[in-house]
Amino acid sequence: MKSVFLITLIVALGSCQGAEVAEPLSAQERSISSVIVDGLEAFRGVLQNGSPKHGLPVLAPMKAAKRSFEINSGEFSGTFGVENFELQGLDQYEIITMNMDVIRSRLTFNINFASLNFTTDYEVDMGSGYRIKRNGGAFFALEDLNIQGKISYSLGVFTSQLRVKDVLIYPSVGNVNSQIENLSQYRIFNRKLNEIIEEFVTLTINENTDFVADWVSEQATPICNDLIGDRTLSDIIAIITGGN
Ligand SMILES: *[C@@H]1O[C@H](CO)[C@@H](O)[C@H](O)[C@H]1NC(C)=O
Ligand SMILES: *[C@@H]1O[C@H](CO)[C@@H](O)[C@H](O)[C@H]1NC(C)=O
Repeated sequence: MKSVFLITLIVALGSCQGAEVAEPLSAQERSISSVIVDGLEAFRGVLQNGSPKHGLPVLAPMKAAKRSFEINSGEFSGTFGVENFELQGLDQYEIITMNMDVIRSRLTFNINFASLNFTTDYEVDMGSGYRIKRNGGAFFALEDLNIQGKISYSLGVFTSQLRVKDVLIYPSVGNVNSQIENLSQYRIFNRKLNEIIEEFVTLTINENTDFVADWVSEQATPICNDLIGDRTLSDIIAIITGGN
């Protein structure tokens, strides 16, 4: 998902490179920023309606009837399954800032998600020394999720080929809400386990900032470049603007 979002930014970026060269720099930067903001607003529609033409499913809400995963990592092995999974809120973002810096070839932004949450039924069956078997309903939310980011890019002198040099993403979360049923059959203990999960996720997101940023950068930079390499700019713009 993150990569789809990044591509939008990059494409918007690419689509206005070379345009309006005559404009003063600051006006140019403002107009590029506003094209990106418009692109992201249009992208909301793609998330909500999907784009059958381009094989993109509806992602807000994102639903999965049934899915199961085999887990096999040394000590732990077993299966983890979800049913009636629904993720909400990918389209509920607010663009707080969007700043283009043409001289430094970079884009900085700040985007806020009010609530990114999923509901699902789950089933876990794992064994090592002992066996854990759980099933029930679950609700899990990241509230006030803030994504601060910086994308550095370069442009080929002759080809205008856009390359992403670095993608830095710093997420932070205001509140984590975990309501997973049946972690324990005792209600008090179940609440306690959910609190541990809430704290763990909050700390992982908010305190491991550099770790997350490095990881995203490593993952996202080649993905962005691969995707740019495979498609023409107009293809990608068509996905974003003509989604439905
Ligand atoms: C889940 O997220 C959606 C979209 O952000 C929001 O409208 C809804 O209130 C959230 N659900 C709960 C229970 O918080
Ligand atoms: C929780 O687990 C019990 C058995 O341990 C099961 O009877 C019950 O249906 C489960 N709750 C839900 C909501 O699935």
